[in-house]
Amino acid sequence: MPENVVYDVVGVGFGPANLSLAVALTEHADDLTSLFLDRAPSMSWHGGMLLPGAKMQVAFLKDLATFRNPVSRFSFVAYLHDTGRLAQFVNNRDFFTTRRDFHAYLDWAEAGLADQVRRGVTVTGIEPTGNGDSMRVLMEGANGTDSTEARNVVISTGLVPKMPPGIAEDQYVWHSSRFLDNYRAVRGPLRRVGVAGAGQSAAELVRYLYDHLPDAEIFAFVPSYGYSVADSTPFANRVFDPQGMDDFYSAPAQTKSAIWQYHKNTNYSVVDDGVIRDLYQRAYDEETSGRDRLHFHTMARVESAKRMADDTRVTVYSMLSDSSYELDLDVLICATGYDPMDPAKLLGGMDGCLARDEEGRYRVRRDHRLVTASESACGVYLQGGTEHTHGLSASLLSNIAIRSGEIADSVAAAKRARR
Ligand code: FDA
Ligand code: NAP
Repeated sequence: MPENVVYDVVGVGFGPANLSLAVALTEHADDLTSLFLDRAPSMSWHGGMLLPGAKMQVAFLKDLATFRNPVSRFSFVAYLHDTGRLAQFVNNRDFFTTRRDFHAYLDWAEAGLADQVRRGVTVTGIEPTGNGDSMRVLMEGANGTDSTEARNVVISTGLVPKMPPGIAEDQYVWHSSRFLDNYRAVRGPLRRVGVAGAGQSAAELVRYLYDHLPDAEIFAFVPSYGYSVADSTPFANRVFDPQGMDDFYSAPAQTKSAIWQYHKNTNYSVVDDGVIRDLYQRAYDEETSGRDRLHFHTMARVESAKRMADDTRVTVYSMLSDSSYELDLDVLICATGYDPMDPAKLLGGMDGCLARDEEGRYRVRRDHRLVTASESACGVYLQGGTEHTHGLSASLLSNIAIRSGEIADSVAAAKRARR
């Protein structure tokens, strides 16, 4: 790490959100220095769920840059052009590319910004330096501990996998986020596999396992009566527009809560129409063919899992019978969702400087900067973890280009003010 350098921006995490910020800083009219740190050795955008054929849930134009700068050299269209696939992509007439193609786009964009990125380092804390003008970012990597200094830190460490209470991950109980790594490491055949959940991850996994394990029984533990469709109709989709973020931010608390209630079915515990139909078709085909290896346990929640000899014994609570039953499986996959990004652990050393609301959540300015208890020249910004202030798009890709532009503008304005 170069000594005596104080970066204008140090980014913690280098997933799509901070990659988009790196693009915004590179394209900014002001000269802003930056360094991005990520614990992963290479881009791994939800690599554990990079299933073949899985589609994006956002239109390709909501890429790293286009909504902020439609002529950016880091747009998805520029990537297609650069890789010689623009015509083929357009022939397909599909706004929603595969997750694998989007991942290749992220790799391509990162390659153009490699000098701003340091990988293989985990950020462990952020502390004030004491001079009031900068912060120290602490990190650990293969070569031990290190640190760097920044005037602004932008935290974007991503969603946090959530297991059902009382169930821990082990060799035979996996969270969906680590599915592919675990699946590839399995020794011996899988004959009975369970998937808990009724969101997009669960539905994609049930379809994948059913198709890839032709001799296995697949058990889906679905808490509702059936999978519900993700509302991606045009009026509902406006909740993800930049204007939707503005409206949410300025709305009173009860309106924020109403927006969540009305529109959480755009994203949470819901499944794309195509995947639901694929699953239904498989279930129907089983009836006509007389095969019976796809089992939907509806109104059912997984309560516990424990290893018994060669099996994982799962206890399932059925809301239909108001009783629990046990089932022996080879593997249980908990596609039970995520908690929002939580920067509190990283910000422990700054805690006294940061303002919180009456529910103990960070106060966040419209420009995504945390409110400080007193006037401060240093800025901590969040990309993610701002669902309570900026709404449903906080953890999604929909607004990353705009949000990154807003952060870059805010950092530049503060730098000019300092001068
Ligand atoms: P992301 O999680 O992508 O990146 C965080 C980065 O921080 C990681 O690279 C991690 O290694 C790093 N990191 C974490 N802690 C660190 C530390 N202490 N030190 C250093 N580095 C650290 N949304 C959407 O709009 N459209 C979509 O199609 C999808 N698809 C999708 C698929 C799946 C399977 C999931 C689980 C989620 C989605 N999402 C989504 C939502 C998802 O949150 C979004 O796509 C982005 O991943 C958000 O980007 P971020 O950069 O904020 O987080
Ligand atoms: P999710 O939408 O939060 O769904 C979690 C599911 O688990 C819910 O149905 C929940 O039911 C259920 N659940 C919780 N505890 C349970 C238990 N004990 N037993 C059985 N079920 C239980 O999570 P997700 O599906 O992982 O999706 C998270 C995000 O990733 C979303 O934004 C999604 O769009 C995205 N994603 C995208 C793709 C893609 O782009 N192709 C793929 C996967 C995921 P309750 O709601 O009743 O608690």
